[in-house]
Amino acid sequence: MRRLLPSPGPVDDAAGLAEAYRLPAGRHLRVNFVAALDGATSIAGRSGGLGSDGDRRVFRVLRALADAVLVGHGTAAAEGYRPVLADSAVGRLRVAMGREPTAPVVVVSRRASLAADDQLVTDAASPTVLVTCAAADAGRRAALATAGVEVLVCGDDDVDLRAAVDALAERGLTQLLCEGGPSLFSAALAAGVVDELDLSIAPLLAGGAPGVLGTGALPVPVPARLVQVLEEDGYLFTRYHLSAGG
Ligand SMILES: NC(=O)c1ccc[n+]([C@@H]2O[C@H](COP(=O)([O-])OP(=O)(O)OC[C@H]3O[C@@H](n4cnc5c(N)ncnc54)[C@H](OP(=O)(O)O)[C@@H]3O)[C@@H](O)[C@H]2O)c1
Repeated sequence: MRRLLPSPGPVDDAAGLAEAYRLPAGRHLRVNFVAALDGATSIAGRSGGLGSDGDRRVFRVLRALADAVLVGHGTAAAEGYRPVLADSAVGRLRVAMGREPTAPVVVVSRRASLAADDQLVTDAASPTVLVTCAAADAGRRAALATAGVEVLVCGDDDVDLRAAVDALAERGLTQLLCEGGPSLFSAALAAGVVDELDLSIAPLLAGGAPGVLGTGALPVPVPARLVQVLEEDGYLFTRYHLSAGG
């Protein structure tokens, strides 16, 4: 992999990649997506067909650098999300960085859709967190809490993402990686809680799928400032600072 911006040069190992995506201290929410040249974020309903070896390395480094992985329930279900385990490439990378081997996955679901027998619930070393709202079925919330999920009720009829990010920070989860999907990213931008977009651009055209924000327009456009571009095998790995983070 090579860096094109800000200064050209090689990024030839995991340490170099970790340095390229290092975060300043303090609260931060970054969003990671891979998209085709036409903006499509899935092929046949999943993102895997868009990825590359380099994209998977970036994905792992971003997870290793995060205190928690935030994801919408739609993506967790579509992609078959599993917990971050110690005995995994991400777990080993985290240990090599001097971090705890695991990190919680935080599922955002207005309806508390996560099933109590989902792998995210049954196999998690760092308990999975569910961010939901008071309108979600109380029985489902109670069953998930009994199964070991930390249930955070943030908002009444809808999830209040700003309150959710605050609640996670109170638990020491200050540096968050959001892995989408498009619905959650749109809501997070509208809530003004996103500091960074790490967009991997795949050298292919796919069509037929929503972009990083789906089809809905944001209340106001969010300016983005390009701070880094890496390249490998025709993939561009971009890093943008957003001014929506407040
Ligand atoms: N290319 C990529 O990098 C990438 C990344 C992520 C996802 N994807 C693709 O995107 C597709 C899924 O898209 P999606 O838009 O459905 O994903 P999503 O945002 O992960 O899921 C939508 C669901 O998540 C919950 N949710 C999202 N935002 C919420 C909010 N603000 N408040 C409360 N609940 C919220 C809701 O769950 P409930 O219905 O349970 O309330 C909603 O129905 C999949 O095909 C996936 O492969 C691609």
